[in-house]
Amino acid sequence: MPSLSKKIDRIEESQTIAITSLARKLRAEGKDIISLSAGEPDFPTPENVKLAAINAIQNDFTKYTQNEGTPELREAVAEKFRNDNHLNVKAANILISSGGKHSIFNALQTICNPDDEVIIPAPYWVSFPEMVKLVDAVPVILPTKEERGFTFTAEDMKPLLSRKTKAIIVNSPSNPTGSVLDEETLRGIAQLANDNDFFIISDEIYEKIIYDGHKHFSVGSIPEAQDKVITTGGVSKAYSMTGWRIGFMAANEEIINRAAKIQSQVTSNPSSISQAAALEAVRGTQSEIEKMRLAFQRRRDMIIEKLVKIDGLTVTNPGGAFYFFPSVKSLFGRKYDGQTLKNSIDVTHYLLAEARVALVPGAAFGSDEHIRISYAYSEKELTEAIDRIASAISRLR
Ligand SMILES: Cc1ncc(COP(=O)(O)O)c(C=O)c1O
Repeated sequence: MPSLSKKIDRIEESQTIAITSLARKLRAEGKDIISLSAGEPDFPTPENVKLAAINAIQNDFTKYTQNEGTPELREAVAEKFRNDNHLNVKAANILISSGGKHSIFNALQTICNPDDEVIIPAPYWVSFPEMVKLVDAVPVILPTKEERGFTFTAEDMKPLLSRKTKAIIVNSPSNPTGSVLDEETLRGIAQLANDNDFFIISDEIYEKIIYDGHKHFSVGSIPEAQDKVITTGGVSKAYSMTGWRIGFMAANEEIINRAAKIQSQVTSNPSSISQAAALEAVRGTQSEIEKMRLAFQRRRDMIIEKLVKIDGLTVTNPGGAFYFFPSVKSLFGRKYDGQTLKNSIDVTHYLLAEARVALVPGAAFGSDEHIRISYAYSEKELTEAIDRIASAISRLR
């Protein structure tokens, strides 16, 4: 076989997808596995949204649309960004793509040159560093601490800045930690971006899943930073539409036009049917969002009570998204069957084998002392899974 691209050798496979597939395979073999590994709401897509897609098919809305997305959806997303996020945007500032992931990749492709540096706070979503490498740029990791709720400030970023700094990726609420960056912090980062001329890619896909007193703030709403910020989001998490693959980007028109140029050569428009569904999601009743948010909050409150009682786990209460990211450092050194737990991968393998619960090791997110527990599952599954985890951990020596 002729040689293959060397770039791909440097890219990690998505650990979340890998673990979810392994759990699925074990289940197909008849094993009683509970998987808390996926980042996917368990609710069905709302009825009004499904109906919009059915209507689209019946009305033969099944052909190519405008490459950038339909004018109606671009306008609806612009309106959403104006109303919910206070961005100063119109339809021309919006690009509709095939999932939030695609929007982030389009953003990176549009702004990065080889060897540019992109700052990524850790723990990070698994795809950020790999996407940066795919565009021949260099991920520069900014570690954050559990004691500070996995947040950071502009001050923490300063030592990492160089002439090659092209952007920072912020993700609030965060996958995997659930941390939320407040307005003051984001204003500080925006000021730093202006002073040092770099972009902020703000991944706000979890903006609607936020709890307690936390308030989502969009850094793109700061007028002085407007041209420095590329805001990305989508319908996957808020509307339980992961399979429909609709994401969006808001940015200045030059960035949108260039990103659209890439999209026109690689994927063209996202699915016409999914765009019709997303239009209903964004424009139609928003009542399902609140129901889902409240259900996530109930689950979070229920689980934290159980998690804090497990000897060996330290857990912070997430302000948003639907993940816990407990520290498992205290388990390192504990033994089972003559083996010793040494890192987050050992812990997740142990829990898969002994508790029959699939979780993602923190190593995948840039922190080998943690594991990620998704609570986008039913209360019954969650209760059973956490009880099994507690029991398996108590059997360690
Ligand atoms: C932080 C973050 N950004 C973006 C995405 C991408 O979402 P989508 O399914 O719309 O591509 C995800 C999905 O897991 C995510 O967790």
